[in-house]
Amino acid sequence: MAHPSKERTFVILKPDAIQRNFIGEIISRFEKTGLKITAMRLLVPKAEQCWTHYNKDEAWFLKKGEGIVKARQENNMPVEKEAIEYGRDIIGQLVTFMTSGPVLAMVIEGNQAVGIVTKLVGGTEPLTSDIGTIRGDLTLDSYDLAGIDGRAVRNLIHCSDKPEEAEREIKIWFTEEEIISYRSISEQMLYDVNLDGILE
Ligand code: PPS
Repeated sequence: MAHPSKERTFVILKPDAIQRNFIGEIISRFEKTGLKITAMRLLVPKAEQCWTHYNKDEAWFLKKGEGIVKARQENNMPVEKEAIEYGRDIIGQLVTFMTSGPVLAMVIEGNQAVGIVTKLVGGTEPLTSDIGTIRGDLTLDSYDLAGIDGRAVRNLIHCSDKPEEAEREIKIWFTEEEIISYRSISEQMLYDVNLDGILE
């Protein structure tokens, strides 16, 4: 089994993060914790790659679609299709969004990398993400607004929510050869047992 300090997560800064010049702001929040970036690429994703990434099931479409139908009803907007169809549309809208311009894909490594990155990123919907998190501090969109206008929620960033999911997602965006295994000097302070390399 790999040492727990080698846990990996996948992060992608979406087109809104790049357009709003938040690359440095967001990456610095990850770096400050001691997490280590082991792969990074600026790219315009292919639609097929995004469909593979967002592999949601029927239960997810239904749950999300029901939320959209409720928002439309509350805003006196016509409900023109089944809830599940509105749920499916979310992924189509996300693919349109993700392929609209450059994104920055990354692999980030460290103890509890998945949980720590999730905590720093904040809840998926910016409206309810905690202050202090990337989404809570830097943006303001809501599911209702995105649903009413028929577009993807502009939430700046995606991160994996489980280690198994991270491994699945990493394979979609990087080959193993592109992920660099290296030692960072600060890791000694984070993980070393004896700290015997400091005093001369
Ligand atoms: S969940 O609720 O945890 O299962 O969903 P999640 O995996 O975070 O959501 C995947 C992406 O779908 C988008 N999303 C939505 N868009 C519009 N309206 C609604 N209700 C909605 N729910 C989820 C959201 O942008 C998620 O994208 P990522 O890239 O993961 O942030």
